[in-house]
Amino acid sequence: MKAAVVTGGGSGIGKRTVERLLEEGWTVWSLDVCDPIIAEPAEALSAGSRFRFHHCDVGDSDSVEAAFTAIKSVTRKIDALVCSAGVARVGLLEEISPDQVDLMMDVNLKGPWLSIRGALSLLRHGSSVSDPARVVIVGSIGGIRPKMGNGFYSATKAAVHALTGVLAVELASSGIVVNAVAPGTVDTPMMSSLLQGSTPPSYRSSGESPLGRIAQPDDIADVILFYLSDAAKYVNGTVLPVDGGTRAAFIKR
Ligand SMILES: NC(=O)c1ccc[n+]([C@@H]2O[C@H](COP(=O)([O-])OP(=O)(O)OC[C@H]3O[C@@H](n4cnc5c(N)ncnc54)[C@H](O)[C@@H]3O)[C@@H](O)[C@H]2O)c1
Repeated sequence: MKAAVVTGGGSGIGKRTVERLLEEGWTVWSLDVCDPIIAEPAEALSAGSRFRFHHCDVGDSDSVEAAFTAIKSVTRKIDALVCSAGVARVGLLEEISPDQVDLMMDVNLKGPWLSIRGALSLLRHGSSVSDPARVVIVGSIGGIRPKMGNGFYSATKAAVHALTGVLAVELASSGIVVNAVAPGTVDTPMMSSLLQGSTPPSYRSSGESPLGRIAQPDDIADVILFYLSDAAKYVNGTVLPVDGGTRAAFIKR
């Protein structure tokens, strides 16, 4: 039976990834600062003992260490780590506050690094270059094509894409591959809160993709599960846009 840790597993892309992994028979630890609201769907509930939750702030090294110490008390090995925890604070660079910048740096950039560091011995155990453990970081197309009104968020995602490549090379020989997905606009609580009235007018959502809709969490979870599958065991150091083609060419609106 395979085991995974998913950060940000309480909502949106992370929650859907947890549910999909439980449906496929994995044991899953969700690390999140919010409550484990994984009450639905029923298939996930019936997974019962295969789902564990730890309250963990991924931007805080003590909190991450405590979560992985607890996980290590029950298992020596995990097969995958998915880093989905993230926060978005938007506004022009002259509007955004130092506290908002610190939060995004801590959660979006330091968070995946601390989580991978905490998970290393679990990922390395029993892994090899022919059957590697997997790390998937959830980046953003903002990190590939930054947008005004979203500058620092884009910068944290560009930085985490850079870390993906370096980690992929540094960890490969110990049997761990590292990749990132870069979603476009996804229908999650994060996006709903950005579309509310209190968001600075300088931020505009990218809107529908050339495919005529925004993504659902399953569109991203599909690709994360591909990275965790046997088919992707030789894929390492990639950043894959999952945006329906939004970034591929400018659209005249
Ligand atoms: N929704 C989008 O349009 C979109 C687009 C591109 C990238 N992303 C990225 O996808 C990832 C998931 O976002 P989502 O849309 O599912 O958002 P979401 O808000 O629905 O879920 C994010 C989860 O991360 C958790 N989290 C926040 N801070 C944390 C912390 N310090 N420690 C642990 N957990 C923390 C939240 O509690 C929440 O459960 C994020 O990294 C986000 O930047 C989202």
